[in-house]
Amino acid sequence: MSSTARSYRVRTYGCQMNVHDSERLAGLLEAAGYVPVEADATPDVEVLNTCAVRENADNRLYGNLGHLRPVKGSHPGMQIAVGGCLAQKDRGEVARRAPWVDVVFGTHNIGSLPALLERARHNGEAQVEIAEALEVFPSTLPARRDSAHSAWVSISVGCNNTCTFCIVPSLRGTEVDRRPGDVLAEIRALVAEGVLEVTLLGQNVNAYGVDFGDRAAFADLLRACGRVNGLERVRFTSPHPRDFTPDVIDAMASTPNVCPQLHMPLQSGSDAVLRAMRRSYRAQRFLRIVGDVRAAMPHAALSTDIIVGFPGETEADFQATLDVVRAARFAQAFTFQYSPRPGTPAATMPDQVPKAVVQERYERLVELQEQISWDLGREHVGSTVEVLVSEGEGRKDAATARLSGRVRDGRLVHFDPGSYPVRPGDVVHTTVTYAAPHHLVADGAPAAHRRTRAGDNWAAGRRPTTPGIALGLPSFGRPAVEEPA
Ligand code: SF4
Ligand code: F3S
Repeated sequence: MSSTARSYRVRTYGCQMNVHDSERLAGLLEAAGYVPVEADATPDVEVLNTCAVRENADNRLYGNLGHLRPVKGSHPGMQIAVGGCLAQKDRGEVARRAPWVDVVFGTHNIGSLPALLERARHNGEAQVEIAEALEVFPSTLPARRDSAHSAWVSISVGCNNTCTFCIVPSLRGTEVDRRPGDVLAEIRALVAEGVLEVTLLGQNVNAYGVDFGDRAAFADLLRACGRVNGLERVRFTSPHPRDFTPDVIDAMASTPNVCPQLHMPLQSGSDAVLRAMRRSYRAQRFLRIVGDVRAAMPHAALSTDIIVGFPGETEADFQATLDVVRAARFAQAFTFQYSPRPGTPAATMPDQVPKAVVQERYERLVELQEQISWDLGREHVGSTVEVLVSEGEGRKDAATARLSGRVRDGRLVHFDPGSYPVRPGDVVHTTVTYAAPHHLVADGAPAAHRRTRAGDNWAAGRRPTTPGIALGLPSFGRPAVEEPA
């Protein structure tokens, strides 16, 4: 690498969409000649990939930008770029409130980042470019993947629903689906580079196909994933209960590499609240899907998202949520306290629930869910599980020498590798000795350790790269160097 190459860092906030978009931003920047910045060094280009959902998202962004101002002042030539959902929402406001920002780009035009940086440098002024609709499907842009063994694969972007608490449709647009052939080509290319696990990504994966008139497209895609040699684990996020068809359950159950795991957002167990949220299923339908999934895959781990304290939620509504949680027995629930998001219909609804009430309900929900998670975890003690060793989580814990990884159903397990030279990306079989609410522990020596090419790639610092198709960029097969975790 040339010593004059400009360095970059991408900081990511928000959901998997943004995490994956950041892999694209990194791929784009590297295709344009930038190199990842050394740890703890100041990059020549700092990219903030923002989220508009988290509470105080804007305070956080402008706070971060405030911290970056003196850094930029003492590093001549440094550029700051702001992209993602908050940039899409705030548009020119970002450059007005933080005039030291060089580039603002939106969710629809991430491919423009290198050109905007160049133009900002050349013209000596901030470039703000927000597109109203997707320019190219992001998956046609180059990517520099974070993980050697697990990869995100976008199947759709945007959402055609109008949940009243959600800002996503206004920031990510209506649903655009990628063709199954393109999705499968990307998966095959990733597997050829050693990837063992893919997570199909979309705001509403069950609606996949609506764009090209094929309602069975998602189930068919799962089955097609089952025919990709070398692909060991397929996951997806997130489905919407409204569009969940028996065909998808059947495809999950009959496709061996589709993991026995389902993350399906409940949001509320009260039909009145679901109606106010403009979520078109009802609690009974949700539980029916849960029942059907359990009948087809008795060992599936279910997880969900729940919002507590939506405007108008009464104690009886909240009790209905607790009832569904008790009946569904989720392995895990991501619980959120409702807080108004400017720009969403729910933000101006009457009967906003007082903060203290929301907090108290939230604590009751968390307590119930922790108990269920723990009870379910304990059922695994004594069973032998297959663990795909994780990267971020795969560091040796100095005190116990444990590594970490994910079981096929998505549970986190901390395990003792014994004398095996286990690397992230390898697969071990080991026996669960203890369960906590949020993880399992396996303290005996593993029964088996399988070295994988993903593990070799991790050890060599290689990460899968996906070449840009739309841009006609060369396939840059050179390994992307990353500091070992
Ligand atoms: Fe938002 Fe609802 Fe679409 Fe999910 S389904 S992205 S919550 S509008
Ligand atoms: Fe995700 Fe946040 Fe945007 S949750 S879609 S990054 S607003």
